[in-house]
Amino acid sequence: MMRSVRTALSRGQILRRDYSVTSGPERKVAVLGAAGGIGQPLSLLMKLNPLVSSLSLYDIAATPGVAADVSHINTRSEVKGYVGEENLGEALKGADVVIIPAGVPRKPGMTRDDLFNINAGIVKSLCLAIAKYSPNAIVNMISNPVNSTVPIAAEVFKKAGTYDEKKLFGVTTLDVVRAKTFYAAKANVPVAGVNVPVVGGHAGVTILPLFSQATPQANLPHDVIVALTKRTQDGGTEVVEAKAGKGSATLSMAYAGALFADACLKGLNGVPDVVECSFVQSSVTELPFFASKVRLGKNGVEEVYGLGPLSDFEKKGLENLKPELKSSIEKGIKFANQS
Ligand code: NAD
Ligand code: LMR
Repeated sequence: MMRSVRTALSRGQILRRDYSVTSGPERKVAVLGAAGGIGQPLSLLMKLNPLVSSLSLYDIAATPGVAADVSHINTRSEVKGYVGEENLGEALKGADVVIIPAGVPRKPGMTRDDLFNINAGIVKSLCLAIAKYSPNAIVNMISNPVNSTVPIAAEVFKKAGTYDEKKLFGVTTLDVVRAKTFYAAKANVPVAGVNVPVVGGHAGVTILPLFSQATPQANLPHDVIVALTKRTQDGGTEVVEAKAGKGSATLSMAYAGALFADACLKGLNGVPDVVECSFVQSSVTELPFFASKVRLGKNGVEEVYGLGPLSDFEKKGLENLKPELKSSIEKGIKFANQS
Protein backbone atom coordinates (compact mmCIF):
# COMPACT_ATOMS: atom_id res chain seq x y z
CA MET A 1 0.00 0.00 0.00
CA MET A 2 2.68 2.47 1.15
CA ARG A 3 4.73 1.43 -1.82
CA SER A 4 1.99 2.15 -4.36
CA VAL A 5 1.18 5.52 -2.74
CA ARG A 6 4.83 6.46 -2.95
CA THR A 7 5.04 5.33 -6.57
CA ALA A 8 1.93 7.31 -7.49
CA LEU A 9 3.32 10.34 -5.68
CA SER A 10 6.66 10.22 -7.36
CA ARG A 11 4.96 9.70 -10.71
CA GLY A 12 2.86 12.80 -10.04
CA GLN A 13 5.97 14.76 -9.22
CA ILE A 14 7.66 13.57 -12.37
CA LEU A 15 4.64 14.59 -14.42
CA ARG A 16 4.49 18.01 -12.79
CA ARG A 17 8.20 18.49 -13.38
CA ASP A 18 7.83 17.48 -17.04
CA TYR A 19 5.14 20.04 -17.68
CA SER A 20 6.21 23.01 -15.62
CA VAL A 21 9.98 22.88 -15.87
CA THR A 22 11.76 25.94 -17.29
CA SER A 23 13.89 24.41 -19.92
CA GLY A 24 16.16 25.99 -22.50
CA PRO A 25 16.08 29.42 -24.10
CA GLU A 26 13.05 31.67 -24.45
CA ARG A 27 10.97 30.50 -27.42
CA LYS A 28 7.82 32.11 -28.75
CA VAL A 29 5.38 29.96 -30.71
CA ALA A 30 2.43 31.53 -32.55
CA VAL A 31 -0.58 29.50 -33.68
CA LEU A 32 -2.62 31.14 -36.46
CA GLY A 33 -6.11 29.64 -36.54
CA ALA A 34 -5.86 28.78 -32.85
CA ALA A 35 -9.62 28.65 -32.20
CA GLY A 36 -10.29 25.97 -34.82
CA GLY A 37 -10.68 22.21 -34.71
CA ILE A 38 -6.93 21.71 -34.95
CA GLY A 39 -5.97 25.03 -33.39
CA GLN A 40 -7.50 24.35 -29.96
CA PRO A 41 -5.96 20.94 -29.20
CA LEU A 42 -2.72 22.08 -30.83
CA SER A 43 -2.66 25.10 -28.53
CA LEU A 44 -3.19 22.78 -25.58
CA LEU A 45 -0.32 20.53 -26.68
CA MET A 46 2.00 23.48 -27.24
CA LYS A 47 1.09 24.73 -23.74
CA LEU A 48 2.31 21.36 -22.43
CA ASN A 49 5.64 21.73 -24.25
CA PRO A 50 8.34 22.90 -21.82
CA LEU A 51 10.43 24.27 -24.70
CA VAL A 52 7.85 27.04 -25.23
CA SER A 53 8.14 30.18 -23.09
CA SER A 54 5.54 32.30 -24.87
CA LEU A 55 2.43 31.00 -26.63
CA SER A 56 0.60 33.39 -28.92
CA LEU A 57 -2.86 32.32 -30.05
CA TYR A 58 -4.36 34.15 -33.03
CA ASP A 59 -7.66 33.69 -34.88
CA ILE A 60 -10.27 35.87 -36.53
CA ALA A 61 -12.70 34.96 -33.70
CA ALA A 62 -12.93 33.24 -30.31
CA THR A 63 -9.25 33.36 -29.34
CA PRO A 64 -9.71 35.22 -26.04
CA GLY A 65 -11.70 32.29 -24.66
CA VAL A 66 -9.24 29.68 -25.90
CA ALA A 67 -6.31 31.66 -24.53
CA ALA A 68 -7.96 32.24 -21.14
CA ASP A 69 -8.73 28.53 -20.86
CA VAL A 70 -5.28 27.28 -21.89
CA SER A 71 -3.52 29.95 -19.81
CA HIS A 72 -4.72 28.39 -16.54
CA ILE A 73 -2.59 25.30 -17.12
CA ASN A 74 0.40 25.48 -14.78
CA THR A 75 3.18 25.04 -17.31
CA ARG A 76 6.08 27.21 -18.40
CA SER A 77 4.66 29.33 -21.20
CA GLU A 78 2.85 32.61 -20.89
CA VAL A 79 -0.26 32.57 -23.09
CA LYS A 80 -1.74 35.51 -24.95
CA GLY A 81 -4.78 35.51 -27.21
CA TYR A 82 -5.20 37.85 -30.18
CA VAL A 83 -8.30 38.31 -32.27
CA GLY A 84 -8.73 40.21 -35.53
CA GLU A 85 -6.29 41.28 -38.21
CA GLU A 86 -5.37 44.49 -36.42
CA ASN A 87 -3.74 42.36 -33.70
CA LEU A 88 -1.95 39.92 -35.97
CA GLY A 89 1.30 41.91 -35.93
CA GLU A 90 1.48 41.81 -32.13
CA ALA A 91 0.66 38.09 -32.18
CA LEU A 92 3.57 37.42 -34.53
CA LYS A 93 6.24 39.78 -33.19
CA GLY A 94 9.30 37.87 -31.99
CA ALA A 95 7.92 34.43 -32.91
CA ASP A 96 10.48 31.67 -33.38
CA VAL A 97 7.94 29.21 -34.79
CA VAL A 98 4.64 30.08 -36.49
CA ILE A 99 2.17 27.22 -36.94
CA ILE A 100 -0.66 27.76 -39.45
CA PRO A 101 -3.80 25.63 -39.14
CA ALA A 102 -6.06 28.47 -40.40
CA GLY A 103 -8.55 27.75 -43.15
CA VAL A 104 -11.49 25.59 -44.09
CA PRO A 105 -11.44 21.79 -43.84
CA ARG A 106 -12.87 19.25 -46.28
CA LYS A 107 -16.36 17.78 -46.31
CA PRO A 108 -17.13 14.32 -47.76
CA GLY A 109 -16.68 14.23 -51.54
CA MET A 110 -14.16 17.06 -51.63
CA THR A 111 -10.47 16.85 -52.50
CA ARG A 112 -7.91 18.98 -50.67
CA ASP A 113 -7.54 20.99 -53.87
CA ASP A 114 -11.22 21.97 -53.56
CA LEU A 115 -10.12 24.05 -50.54
CA PHE A 116 -7.71 26.06 -52.67
CA ASN A 117 -10.03 28.96 -53.53
CA ILE A 118 -10.63 29.87 -49.89
CA ASN A 119 -7.43 28.76 -48.18
CA ALA A 120 -4.98 30.19 -50.73
CA GLY A 121 -6.13 33.72 -49.88
CA ILE A 122 -6.06 33.08 -46.13
CA VAL A 123 -2.53 31.67 -46.29
CA LYS A 124 -1.36 34.49 -48.50
CA SER A 125 -2.58 37.19 -46.14
CA LEU A 126 -1.11 35.42 -43.10
CA CYS A 127 2.25 35.03 -44.87
CA LEU A 128 2.29 38.72 -45.80
CA ALA A 129 1.98 39.46 -42.08
CA ILE A 130 4.69 36.92 -41.19
CA ALA A 131 7.03 38.56 -43.71
CA LYS A 132 6.37 41.89 -42.01
CA TYR A 133 6.30 41.00 -38.31
CA SER A 134 8.26 37.77 -37.86
CA PRO A 135 10.43 37.42 -40.96
CA ASN A 136 12.92 35.10 -39.25
CA ALA A 137 10.38 32.64 -37.90
CA ILE A 138 10.18 28.99 -38.87
CA VAL A 139 6.81 28.43 -40.55
CA ASN A 140 4.89 25.17 -40.14
CA MET A 141 2.15 25.10 -42.79
CA ILE A 142 -0.79 22.86 -41.94
CA SER A 143 -3.52 24.55 -44.04
CA ASN A 144 -4.57 22.57 -47.09
CA PRO A 145 -3.84 21.99 -49.88
CA VAL A 146 -0.31 21.82 -48.43
CA ASN A 147 1.06 20.95 -51.91
CA SER A 148 -0.02 24.47 -52.98
CA THR A 149 -0.02 26.50 -49.76
CA VAL A 150 3.70 25.95 -49.18
CA PRO A 151 4.61 27.28 -52.67
CA ILE A 152 2.24 30.22 -52.05
CA ALA A 153 4.09 31.02 -48.81
CA ALA A 154 7.45 30.76 -50.58
CA GLU A 155 6.36 33.19 -53.29
CA VAL A 156 4.95 35.68 -50.77
CA PHE A 157 8.20 35.58 -48.80
CA LYS A 158 10.30 35.90 -51.98
CA LYS A 159 8.38 39.00 -53.02
CA ALA A 160 8.82 40.47 -49.54
CA GLY A 161 12.54 39.67 -49.64
CA THR A 162 12.33 37.46 -46.54
CA TYR A 163 12.32 33.97 -48.06
CA ASP A 164 14.58 31.48 -46.34
CA GLU A 165 13.99 28.03 -47.82
CA LYS A 166 15.36 26.47 -44.65
CA LYS A 167 12.53 27.88 -42.60
CA LEU A 168 9.43 26.91 -44.57
CA PHE A 169 7.84 23.51 -43.85
CA GLY A 170 4.70 21.80 -45.06
CA VAL A 171 3.56 19.64 -42.17
CA THR A 172 3.24 16.04 -43.42
CA THR A 173 3.78 14.45 -40.00
CA LEU A 174 0.22 13.11 -39.91
CA ASP A 175 1.02 10.90 -42.91
CA VAL A 176 3.98 9.47 -40.98
CA VAL A 177 1.88 9.04 -37.83
CA ARG A 178 -0.75 7.13 -39.84
CA ALA A 179 1.80 5.01 -41.71
CA LYS A 180 3.40 4.00 -38.40
CA THR A 181 0.04 3.12 -36.82
CA PHE A 182 -1.23 1.08 -39.79
CA TYR A 183 2.14 -0.69 -40.30
CA ALA A 184 2.51 -1.62 -36.62
CA ALA A 185 -0.95 -3.21 -36.63
CA LYS A 186 -0.25 -5.31 -39.76
CA ALA A 187 3.29 -6.23 -38.73
CA ASN A 188 2.12 -6.99 -35.20
CA VAL A 189 4.96 -4.99 -33.62
CA PRO A 190 4.83 -2.34 -30.86
CA VAL A 191 4.02 0.96 -32.56
CA ALA A 192 6.40 2.95 -30.34
CA GLY A 193 9.43 1.41 -32.07
CA VAL A 194 8.13 1.79 -35.64
CA ASN A 195 9.57 4.15 -38.23
CA VAL A 196 8.19 4.72 -41.73
CA PRO A 197 9.40 7.53 -44.00
CA VAL A 198 6.64 9.16 -46.07
CA VAL A 199 7.73 11.22 -49.07
CA GLY A 200 6.19 13.22 -51.94
CA GLY A 201 3.39 15.55 -50.93
CA HIS A 202 0.23 15.68 -48.84
CA ALA A 203 -2.76 14.67 -51.00
CA GLY A 204 -3.92 11.29 -52.33
CA VAL A 205 -1.34 9.56 -54.51
CA THR A 206 1.24 12.28 -53.81
CA ILE A 207 1.54 10.74 -50.31
CA LEU A 208 4.12 7.96 -50.78
CA PRO A 209 4.90 5.88 -47.70
CA LEU A 210 8.15 3.93 -48.08
CA PHE A 211 7.23 0.68 -46.36
CA SER A 212 10.30 -1.00 -47.88
CA GLN A 213 12.32 1.17 -45.46
CA ALA A 214 10.02 0.63 -42.48
CA THR A 215 11.64 -0.53 -39.29
CA PRO A 216 11.47 -3.00 -37.70
CA GLN A 217 11.39 -4.97 -40.96
CA ALA A 218 8.43 -7.29 -41.23
CA ASN A 219 8.60 -8.69 -44.79
CA LEU A 220 4.89 -8.15 -45.32
CA PRO A 221 3.43 -9.63 -48.53
CA HIS A 222 3.04 -7.31 -51.54
CA ASP A 223 -0.76 -7.16 -51.36
CA VAL A 224 -0.54 -6.01 -47.73
CA ILE A 225 1.97 -3.29 -48.69
CA VAL A 226 -0.37 -2.14 -51.47
CA ALA A 227 -3.29 -1.98 -49.02
CA LEU A 228 -1.20 -0.15 -46.39
CA THR A 229 -0.07 2.37 -48.99
CA LYS A 230 -3.64 3.03 -50.09
CA ARG A 231 -4.87 3.37 -46.49
CA THR A 232 -2.11 5.88 -45.70
CA GLN A 233 -2.93 7.86 -48.85
CA ASP A 234 -6.63 7.83 -47.99
CA GLY A 235 -6.18 8.38 -44.24
CA GLY A 236 -7.50 11.95 -44.39
CA THR A 237 -10.54 10.87 -46.42
CA GLU A 238 -11.24 8.06 -43.95
CA VAL A 239 -11.58 10.68 -41.18
CA VAL A 240 -13.53 13.15 -43.36
CA GLU A 241 -16.07 10.42 -44.17
CA ALA A 242 -16.30 9.24 -40.56
CA LYS A 243 -16.94 12.82 -39.42
CA ALA A 244 -19.70 13.01 -42.05
CA GLY A 245 -19.64 16.74 -42.76
CA LYS A 246 -18.20 17.89 -39.43
CA GLY A 247 -14.69 18.49 -40.77
CA SER A 248 -11.47 16.55 -41.13
CA ALA A 249 -8.75 15.23 -38.82
CA THR A 250 -8.24 17.59 -35.89
CA LEU A 251 -7.05 15.58 -32.89
CA SER A 252 -4.53 13.36 -34.69
CA MET A 253 -3.44 16.45 -36.64
CA ALA A 254 -2.94 18.44 -33.46
CA TYR A 255 -0.78 15.59 -32.16
CA ALA A 256 1.20 15.48 -35.41
CA GLY A 257 1.54 19.28 -35.54
CA ALA A 258 2.76 19.36 -31.94
CA LEU A 259 5.33 16.65 -32.70
CA PHE A 260 6.65 18.56 -35.69
CA ALA A 261 6.77 21.91 -33.88
CA ASP A 262 8.61 20.22 -31.01
CA ALA A 263 11.16 18.88 -33.51
CA CYS A 264 11.63 22.42 -34.91
CA LEU A 265 12.15 23.80 -31.39
CA LYS A 266 14.62 21.06 -30.54
CA GLY A 267 16.53 21.84 -33.74
CA LEU A 268 16.57 25.57 -32.91
CA ASN A 269 17.88 24.73 -29.44
CA GLY A 270 20.77 22.75 -30.90
CA VAL A 271 19.58 19.23 -30.12
CA PRO A 272 21.50 16.98 -32.56
CA ASP A 273 20.05 14.46 -35.03
CA VAL A 274 16.46 15.70 -35.12
CA VAL A 275 15.07 14.12 -38.28
CA GLU A 276 11.47 14.34 -39.52
CA CYS A 277 9.72 14.08 -42.88
CA SER A 278 8.47 17.40 -44.23
CA PHE A 279 7.42 19.08 -47.49
CA VAL A 280 10.24 21.54 -48.20
CA GLN A 281 12.12 23.23 -51.03
CA SER A 282 14.04 20.33 -52.46
CA SER A 283 16.37 19.06 -55.14
CA VAL A 284 15.70 15.40 -54.32
CA THR A 285 13.58 15.17 -57.51
CA GLU A 286 13.06 17.59 -60.41
CA LEU A 287 10.14 19.16 -58.46
CA PRO A 288 10.91 22.36 -56.54
CA PHE A 289 9.12 21.16 -53.38
CA PHE A 290 9.05 17.61 -52.12
CA ALA A 291 8.55 15.83 -48.81
CA SER A 292 11.39 13.68 -47.56
CA LYS A 293 13.40 13.21 -44.41
CA VAL A 294 15.06 16.44 -43.26
CA ARG A 295 17.46 17.14 -40.43
CA LEU A 296 16.41 20.10 -38.30
CA GLY A 297 18.85 22.45 -36.67
CA LYS A 298 19.51 25.97 -35.47
CA ASN A 299 18.69 27.41 -38.91
CA GLY A 300 15.71 25.21 -39.70
CA VAL A 301 16.50 22.62 -42.39
CA GLU A 302 20.15 21.59 -42.03
CA GLU A 303 20.00 18.75 -44.53
CA VAL A 304 17.44 17.34 -46.95
CA TYR A 305 17.95 13.60 -47.28
CA GLY A 306 17.54 11.66 -50.52
CA LEU A 307 14.97 8.93 -50.90
CA GLY A 308 17.22 5.91 -50.35
CA PRO A 309 16.59 2.59 -52.11
CA LEU A 310 13.00 2.18 -53.33
CA SER A 311 11.07 -0.99 -54.19
CA ASP A 312 9.72 -1.30 -57.73
CA PHE A 313 6.26 -0.51 -56.35
CA GLU A 314 7.55 2.68 -54.72
CA LYS A 315 9.47 3.67 -57.87
CA LYS A 316 6.19 3.44 -59.80
CA GLY A 317 4.41 5.41 -57.07
CA LEU A 318 7.08 8.10 -57.30
CA GLU A 319 6.67 8.54 -61.06
CA ASN A 320 2.90 8.41 -60.68
CA LEU A 321 2.75 11.24 -58.12
CA LYS A 322 4.92 13.72 -59.99
CA PRO A 323 2.36 15.17 -62.48
CA GLU A 324 -0.22 15.91 -59.75
CA LEU A 325 2.35 17.32 -57.34
CA LYS A 326 3.89 19.45 -60.10
CA SER A 327 0.54 20.93 -61.06
CA SER A 328 -0.41 21.68 -57.41
CA ILE A 329 2.93 23.44 -56.89
CA GLU A 330 2.51 25.44 -60.08
CA LYS A 331 -1.06 26.38 -59.12
CA GLY A 332 0.22 27.83 -55.84
CA ILE A 333 3.04 29.75 -57.50
CA LYS A 334 0.67 31.15 -60.13
CA PHE A 335 -1.87 32.25 -57.51
CA ALA A 336 0.74 34.04 -55.42
CA ASN A 337 2.12 35.90 -58.41
CA GLN A 338 -1.11 36.89 -60.12
CA SER A 339 -3.05 38.24 -57.17
P1 NAD B 1 -11.56 24.66 -38.61
O1 NAD B 1 -12.54 25.26 -39.52
O2 NAD B 1 -12.06 23.88 -37.45
O3 NAD B 1 -10.59 25.78 -38.03
C1 NAD B 1 -9.98 26.71 -38.86
C2 NAD B 1 -9.75 27.96 -38.05
O4 NAD B 1 -9.10 28.90 -38.93
C3 NAD B 1 -11.05 28.63 -37.56
O5 NAD B 1 -10.98 28.87 -36.18
C4 NAD B 1 -11.11 29.92 -38.34
O6 NAD B 1 -11.69 31.01 -37.61
C5 NAD B 1 -9.62 30.16 -38.60
N1 NAD B 1 -9.38 31.12 -39.66
C6 NAD B 1 -10.01 31.29 -40.84
N2 NAD B 1 -9.48 32.32 -41.52
C7 NAD B 1 -8.46 32.80 -40.76
C8 NAD B 1 -7.54 33.85 -40.90
N3 NAD B 1 -7.55 34.63 -41.97
N4 NAD B 1 -6.65 34.05 -39.91
C9 NAD B 1 -6.64 33.26 -38.83
N5 NAD B 1 -7.49 32.25 -38.62
C10 NAD B 1 -8.40 32.03 -39.59
O7 NAD B 1 -10.59 23.75 -39.51
P2 NAD B 1 -9.54 22.64 -39.02
O8 NAD B 1 -10.19 21.33 -38.94
O9 NAD B 1 -8.81 23.15 -37.84
O10 NAD B 1 -8.54 22.60 -40.29
C11 NAD B 1 -7.75 23.70 -40.63
C12 NAD B 1 -6.94 23.42 -41.88
O11 NAD B 1 -5.99 22.37 -41.65
C13 NAD B 1 -7.76 22.94 -43.07
O12 NAD B 1 -7.30 23.58 -44.24
C14 NAD B 1 -7.46 21.46 -43.15
O13 NAD B 1 -7.65 20.93 -44.44
C15 NAD B 1 -6.03 21.44 -42.73
N6 NAD B 1 -5.51 20.14 -42.27
C16 NAD B 1 -4.25 19.81 -42.63
C17 NAD B 1 -3.69 18.62 -42.23
C18 NAD B 1 -2.28 18.25 -42.60
O14 NAD B 1 -1.91 17.08 -42.44
N7 NAD B 1 -1.46 19.16 -43.07
C19 NAD B 1 -4.45 17.74 -41.42
C20 NAD B 1 -5.73 18.11 -41.06
C21 NAD B 1 -6.28 19.32 -41.50
C1 LMR C 1 -5.56 14.93 -43.44
O1 LMR C 1 -4.71 14.29 -44.04
O2 LMR C 1 -6.25 14.44 -42.52
C2 LMR C 1 -5.76 16.38 -43.77
O3 LMR C 1 -5.05 16.73 -44.90
C3 LMR C 1 -7.20 16.79 -43.85
C4 LMR C 1 -7.91 16.22 -45.04
O4 LMR C 1 -8.61 16.99 -45.70
O5 LMR C 1 -7.82 15.02 -45.29
